[in-house]
Amino acid sequence: MEFVYNLIVILHFIGLASLVGGFIVQISNSEKGVNAAMFHGALTQLVTGLILVGMVEGGAVDDELNMTKISVKLVIVLVVTVLAVTGRKKAPPQTALWGAIGALSIANIFIAVLWS
Ligand code: HEM
Repeated sequence: MEFVYNLIVILHFIGLASLVGGFIVQISNSEKGVNAAMFHGALTQLVTGLILVGMVEGGAVDDELNMTKISVKLVIVLVVTVLAVTGRKKAPPQTALWGAIGALSIANIFIAVLWS
């Protein structure tokens, strides 16, 4: 089961790359918005994160989670997902939405890595 868990962790990193990559690639664009990479990256983070928590809590892998940290990450990613869904419905420029999604996503990386 640990192999499957590690595969989901890899998908979690691909979702992260898509979300933050979709943000960074637009930095010098005059019309910034929520692109498909950001939208699908947000959904990937939400789904893979929940699967990882489910696998640990279900005893599939021998690990212990900091549930306060996970809850903060979950709230942030839910906000990011709502912003991404909102942004996908509108034509660019959506600079504020783009910036908020990027800042919150990068904040989640800091939380994931620095909060033990
Ligand atoms: C934008 C959203 C997210 C980002 C950028 C993100 C980033 C990361 C990163 C960088 C790691 C590796 C940390 C390490 O090994 O030191 C990680 C691990 C993990 N993430 Fe996320 N994550 C996000 C959302 C979520 C969500 C919503 C959940 C669950 C509801 C979640 C659950 C987990 C779990 C269980 C792990 C592995 C255990 C741990 O190190 O805490 N993540 N995430």
